[in-house]
Amino acid sequence: MDGNGEKKPAMDVKELLVSLPGKELRLYLARDFEALITDLEDADKVPCWAEVWPAAYGLARYLWEQTPFSPGEEVVELGAGMGLPGIVCALKGARLTLSDFNPQALEMAAVNARANGVEPALLLADWRSFPRGQKFAGILASDILYDPQLNPYLGRIFHEILLPGGRLLISHPQRPVTREFIQDWYNPDLFTAELFHETVVLQESLLPSYAISIHLFTRRAAS
Ligand SMILES: C[S@@+](CC[C@H](N)C(=O)[O-])C[C@H]1O[C@@H](n2cnc3c(N)ncnc32)[C@H](O)[C@@H]1O
Repeated sequence: MDGNGEKKPAMDVKELLVSLPGKELRLYLARDFEALITDLEDADKVPCWAEVWPAAYGLARYLWEQTPFSPGEEVVELGAGMGLPGIVCALKGARLTLSDFNPQALEMAAVNARANGVEPALLLADWRSFPRGQKFAGILASDILYDPQLNPYLGRIFHEILLPGGRLLISHPQRPVTREFIQDWYNPDLFTAELFHETVVLQESLLPSYAISIHLFTRRAAS
């Protein structure tokens, strides 16, 4: 515990401050990303959970400014990694479930949530065997539709766990594979669709800025 009573993460971490208009969030990230790499040949073991990806910053800002969920609505972040968009939703009053298949990711996401005054439910689950019981008013999908082998599982999960009237938010940095998924998956009889854009500028990053697409799908009440 630190002086504020927060539980410290088990791994060696660095602090990351995330600025939103009128609000600063404090996150913890693994200090040594490369030390987490154990087997680059196995896609399941690539520690992509340990970064906050540009799509997560873009979605976080959109959620902070647009507040698409009402207080008390149940929102799940899939492939949450460090959990930034979900934490922002919870700060706006949503009841948050953070989900990932990597236990270290979920532990860090929970630490990050608590560091910002959010107490999330945690769901350790693989998209290939995802529990279908609980339904949500919101699903956050920040840069998780990058693998054509995994995308069909996510497509089914979106249909199965989103309540009628619920909203699915997909953010990505203009990935062709994500666009192709959306083209195949989107059914205008079941969902309405809107598209938003956020420009994300990150210090010490490869590109000067990232153009983030944010797709908002609202499930038709009768579907
Ligand atoms: C590119 S990272 C994105 C992390 C975070 N959403 C962001 O935008 O910063 C992909 C995330 O999906 C998770 N993931 C990958 N494959 C998964 C699977 N089969 N089931 C559940 N989560 C998975 C990873 O652990 C990681 O947290």
